[in-house]
Amino acid sequence: MCGIFGYTGTRRAAETVVDGLEKLEYRGYDSAGVLVLSEGDPVLVRTVGATRELRERMGKQPPPGHTAIGHTRWATHGQPSERNAHPHRCGQVFVVHNGIIENDSEIRRELHHVGTAFSSDTDSELIGHLIDRNMTSGMDFKTAVLATLPRLSGTYSFLAVTDRSDSPVIAVHMGSPLIIGKNAEGLFLSSDAHAFPPEVSEILPVSRGDVVILSSGKPPEFLLGAGQEKPFQSWSVTPETQGKGIYPHYMLKEIHEQPGVVRNLLAGLLEKTDGHLKINLPERVSRKLHKARRILIIACGTSFHAGLFGKYLLESIGLVSVSVEVASEFRYRHPVVDPERDLAILITQSGETADTLSCLRLLKELGVPQIVLTNVEGSTAVREADDAMFLLAGPELGVASTKAFLAQIVYMMFFALELGLKKPHPEHSNAHIYSILDEFFRIPALMEETLNLSPSIRDLVKPFTHLPSTLFLGRGRDYPLALEGALKLKEISYIHAEGYPSGELKHGPLALVSDSMPVFALVSGSELLPKILGNLKEVHSRSGIIISIAPASLKGALTDVVNHQILLPPVGDFFLPLLSTIVLQFISYHMADLKGFDVDRPRNLAKSVTVE
Ligand code: F6R
Repeated sequence: MCGIFGYTGTRRAAETVVDGLEKLEYRGYDSAGVLVLSEGDPVLVRTVGATRELRERMGKQPPPGHTAIGHTRWATHGQPSERNAHPHRCGQVFVVHNGIIENDSEIRRELHHVGTAFSSDTDSELIGHLIDRNMTSGMDFKTAVLATLPRLSGTYSFLAVTDRSDSPVIAVHMGSPLIIGKNAEGLFLSSDAHAFPPEVSEILPVSRGDVVILSSGKPPEFLLGAGQEKPFQSWSVTPETQGKGIYPHYMLKEIHEQPGVVRNLLAGLLEKTDGHLKINLPERVSRKLHKARRILIIACGTSFHAGLFGKYLLESIGLVSVSVEVASEFRYRHPVVDPERDLAILITQSGETADTLSCLRLLKELGVPQIVLTNVEGSTAVREADDAMFLLAGPELGVASTKAFLAQIVYMMFFALELGLKKPHPEHSNAHIYSILDEFFRIPALMEETLNLSPSIRDLVKPFTHLPSTLFLGRGRDYPLALEGALKLKEISYIHAEGYPSGELKHGPLALVSDSMPVFALVSGSELLPKILGNLKEVHSRSGIIISIAPASLKGALTDVVNHQILLPPVGDFFLPLLSTIVLQFISYHMADLKGFDVDRPRNLAKSVTVE
């Protein structure tokens, strides 16, 4: 949700900052801008659109200068336009900002009263005006920034410089992520370390409450906060984690990376020595899981769907009561919790989602133990939670989450199996659980086989791309997958899609079914098969177009009921979701791509939602 990037050193700052912004585009791409301090006047370049437009605007001769700040925007206050693009000039001060200033109306009124002229509709501009006014009244830059902070409420980060060519960059972290990078050529600041150039070899995550000054040729100086006590950590990125490689989109690359993600997770979570299998969860995590009488899973969007999937497994195999909550609802509904019996699992790919973080803080206040499941080490969620487990999926840059979701559902499987091993269960004896664990090692190869379905799925969905609406159906633990399939499709192809439990169809949505309504149906060979087939017949007899996603073993059972079949490699029922998820991702990817949309940058969205 907005990306900020700054640099001071010996490189040409304009190119360095725009390169960084390009890698932050997943955080927003409504508009972009860069401010370069150079010997003459500072040069401000802003544009509607993403960094490609910014580069074009800068032309073949980007402004010279060795200090710059830049921004890529996801609009909150004020529509996407050049005047609302950052950096904002406020007298002698320039700012770029990520997050929200909650008392903006009050500050705007006050500044208006003293005759301040505004040049945008943003809350960000107000920060610059407050600093500028403090400087005009005689404070130096540092003091002016520090005196501004008590005036601002909200969760945010910003970078500020003055119009002097030797101005330092002052960075403030009040809740939105910010990281310092360094190499022999200077100091970098970014909302995400993956935006640093590959030569950056050391990083220092800035913490909430830190205010830091970066001046060329000097170490960072912390004015407030605990940053100065923390050493830089070594940092490296492998070339394959940067860029799209052979793929036209990050989303497609990330879909293809999933077998590798599962291999990474298995290497850490499952040990096999001399034929003996052992789930390797950290001692503290496993203790918390076993102690819990109720698990509260809290998340947003795709991560919420992973939590819902987890509920089915944790209850049926782990025999523990689970409640799954959308973070923005949980936070404000005065939940009743019991710190002695409850365990909260917060799922967040980014570790920065504002709604999930505010639930984390609430749960801490209420004394409920928490485990965060995230993909981003060093994220705010990791820093604030009691315990964190990592998805090990590598940076996910496509706005639509794919490989992180898959890693999240793998964790749900492991948590359920870990609990199941200690619970007497008629259906899931330990021998059965160990046989499932043993089969896990075969799954990455079966996922690779599933990836080969991509071209045939593209051909299959081609005729449906012009249709306005679709349904995704699933029963049991396939229901959360149906919700996820629908979310993915609407998010990137702008086709209306709904996920439904198959059994609910006749309670309303069946009215929508017609011969222009594709219905994607997840079918597994569980004891629910007869009921699923019954539900599909209801659709079939109303001329609905049914596309089943099912293991090859069910081909015969489905022949007379569905119009098209997507057949998955033979796999145990427990693992089917790991293969059907890939198919759902391909359905949405291909439909969006065939419609000519920018799959990695869906309209109105951003990857990291750092505002409530
Ligand atoms: C959809 C998607 C979003 C995120 C949601 C939560 O493809 O990616 O729905 O899942 O914004 O984000 P995290 O997991 O970072 O908290």
